[in-house]
Amino acid sequence: MKAIITTKYGSPEVLELKDIEKPVPNKNEVLIHIRAASVTTADTMMRKGRPWVGRLFIGLTKPKHPISGTGFSGVIETIGQDVKQFRIGNEVFGESIFGAGTNAEYVCVKEDGVLVLKPEHIAHEEAAAICDGPLTSWNFLKGMAKVKRGQSVLIHGASGSLGTAAVQLAKHLGANVTGVCSTKNMEMVKSLGAATVIDYGKIDFTKTGQTYDIVFDTVGKSSFLKCKKALNKNGIYLSPVLSLSLLFQMLRTAMLGNKKAMFSATGTKPISVLRLLLKELNELLESGQLKTVIDRCYALEEISEAHRYVDTGHKRGNVVISMQY
Ligand SMILES: NC(=O)c1ccc[n+]([C@@H]2O[C@H](COP(=O)([O-])OP(=O)(O)OC[C@H]3O[C@@H](n4cnc5c(N)ncnc54)[C@H](OP(=O)(O)O)[C@@H]3O)[C@@H](O)[C@H]2O)c1
Repeated sequence: MKAIITTKYGSPEVLELKDIEKPVPNKNEVLIHIRAASVTTADTMMRKGRPWVGRLFIGLTKPKHPISGTGFSGVIETIGQDVKQFRIGNEVFGESIFGAGTNAEYVCVKEDGVLVLKPEHIAHEEAAAICDGPLTSWNFLKGMAKVKRGQSVLIHGASGSLGTAAVQLAKHLGANVTGVCSTKNMEMVKSLGAATVIDYGKIDFTKTGQTYDIVFDTVGKSSFLKCKKALNKNGIYLSPVLSLSLLFQMLRTAMLGNKKAMFSATGTKPISVLRLLLKELNELLESGQLKTVIDRCYALEEISEAHRYVDTGHKRGNVVISMQY
């Protein structure tokens, strides 16, 4: 099969298209013919081997798992002899974490892994991106902050993969949503459900005097200390981007003060938790309450180009590899 192989850390040029052996599923695995795969900021970080501390998990001097990519959507081609929940021909989507990469024609995934049946009317390209922004934002907003109806939620970076999902998910949970993005993305963020949209090029949301129950800084461009005055009493600052300062504020606010700083590495949560979150998202996807914003689709051969675009930090929603090209 064709697959993208990375034998060293570095620029997008380290991603090489190669022909390798097609994987064979174990007893409890399904073999999926991949139709689309996400290209995420996390993928580009794994390609670079940055931050350095991440190498403790993905390989000290070179990638432990050479095939890039984690999110996928595709069709089950073969099942292992013990598989009960899926059948050949089922359309499925999910995530393959720290193991078999998904920038390839095929991947084997455990039947009790992060895997669900894809709604028929959802395109593979839309489903492949769910395990990045939507799954992370759902974990942060529902799992960690426990957003309730009537709360005020500000989404910073509302036009990214996490942000476009976070606006929709916070609205779905009944919050009054404010989105922060640039001029060119204001209409889109409004259309996703933000009641108010702030242009980050013109207004600093931390200086307006407006306060929120939750500030979700999806791009880590602010900080707990900067946002503290924009938080209501018992307010929560959430960020998926870890820094030493955030780590310190998490530890400090866990013990002192009524305003909290929170971080989570969603991909390190137990598979059973991720699977449950994915099932909930699938229901929202199926009923049309969650839509995937797709910015660009690339062919598998164009993977380096896709990574270069994600590296700009200005993608709009999600970038995917589509095998339909
Ligand atoms: N902890 C976890 O579990 C976890 C999981 C997944 C991802 N992440 C992390 O989450 C972060 C966000 O990822 P992502 O894929 O959603 O987005 P991204 O690619 O990092 O960001 C893209 C968006 O950010 C906007 N943006 C850039 N600078 C901004 C600023 N100063 N203020 C507001 N918006 C700005 C851009 O809009 P403009 O073009 O208009 O500037 C663009 O739409 C990444 O650092 C990723 O590594 C963490």
